[in-house]
Amino acid sequence: MTLLLSQEELAASVKRLALGLDEDYAHTSPVLVGILKGAFVFLADLVRQMKTPVRRIEFLRLSSYGASTVSSGRARILVGVPKGAIQGQHVIMVDDVVDTGITTAAALRYLRRFRPASLKLCVLLDKPARRQASVTIDYLAATIPDRFVVGYGLDVDERFRQLPDIYALEE
Ligand code: IMP
Ligand code: MG
Repeated sequence: MTLLLSQEELAASVKRLALGLDEDYAHTSPVLVGILKGAFVFLADLVRQMKTPVRRIEFLRLSSYGASTVSSGRARILVGVPKGAIQGQHVIMVDDVVDTGITTAAALRYLRRFRPASLKLCVLLDKPARRQASVTIDYLAATIPDRFVVGYGLDVDERFRQLPDIYALEE
């Protein structure tokens, strides 16, 4: 594994994103929706850097790659958000990686059905090389090349989520 983003770099990016969110949400109390499982570390760090009082925090879980490092091209909602959590709210969806974009696009589509007042996307890593579904990222920590990465919440077959830095797997 090769170090791609150190915990110091990650902390600086998260701080920058939190500052931007604090500016943009100065007059509202947003709802944060984390995408499980990969975004749990990112969301936890991000929300603790934000000064804006958050209205609530929810989680959404979609079907994953499983043991594969390549997208299956489909995404299903496994665990949704509670009724009434989203409607009329200013929602920030917090995602780990946008690779093909299929999972993120499915999650956004699902949340839009609940008629939020606004819906923005905050992403840890953008891997634009293999994009299939177009998604607009409103807040981004880092763009990375087409490598499979682990750590800071990201896994390969459920391993390495606890690493504080982000590493690229050797090809
Ligand atoms: P997409 O639907 O192809 O954009 O895949 C998005 C999901 O796949 C992310 O939310 C991650 O959970 C997972 N994923 C994509 N690339 C990586 C990676 O490099 N490391 C770990 N998980 C990844
Ligand atoms: Mg995963």
